[in-house]
Amino acid sequence: MTLSPRDRTVHPPALAPAYRSTALRAPRHAPLSMPSGPAEETGPVFGHDLIGGTDADLVHNFSGAPALGERIIVHGHLRDEAGRPVPDALVEVWQANAGGRYRHAKDGYLAPLDPNFGGCGRCMTDAEGRYAFRTIRPGAYPWPNGGNDWRPAHIHFSLFGHAFGQRLVTQMYFEGDPHVALCPIVQSVPDAAAIDRLVARLDMEGTVPFDARAYRFDLVLRGRAATPFEGRA
Ligand SMILES: [Fe+2]
Repeated sequence: MTLSPRDRTVHPPALAPAYRSTALRAPRHAPLSMPSGPAEETGPVFGHDLIGGTDADLVHNFSGAPALGERIIVHGHLRDEAGRPVPDALVEVWQANAGGRYRHAKDGYLAPLDPNFGGCGRCMTDAEGRYAFRTIRPGAYPWPNGGNDWRPAHIHFSLFGHAFGQRLVTQMYFEGDPHVALCPIVQSVPDAAAIDRLVARLDMEGTVPFDARAYRFDLVLRGRAATPFEGRA
């Protein structure tokens, strides 16, 4: 199946002046569109045997003891450009802790590390294309851009569908967060409806009573309803 080309009016441009670091890495010439071939339309294929244990439970998968923060379930449905569920897709996530700090050598934010939170997880979609993670709600954090820019609370997503052309790297935001409208990275997505597709909704039906609330985040790999690729060259 030939993959549909990415709609450049929906996905963020490589150069977004308000997102200052894009000026250093954006290519100077417009990207060339090429029809997909066998290399983009087949593989890679992953097996369930690579995933296991508490990989999808970020609350416990770093030290075994529970991480600090608001306990949440993040779950959703993965579909392809024709609306079909995508089973057996690898979904990887990474995020800051409840205070907005990443466990990363280059994160110098003064919020403390949580000794029980690593911030990484992965799972495979099931036969109906569904995925689910247990985690904590990440905190907002400041970043050097305009002097006082803050990232909305967000979770980074990386997906491998059934074809390399279905690769998606994106970020999930939370319903009701006022920083979504203020963030130059989010606002580099040129289409309001596409930004809305990056916002997870509170899902009371998915909550675990007296344990964790749930947020639903559905993703689409390519096509007109595609989840926008994040704004990187
Ligand atoms: Fe981030």
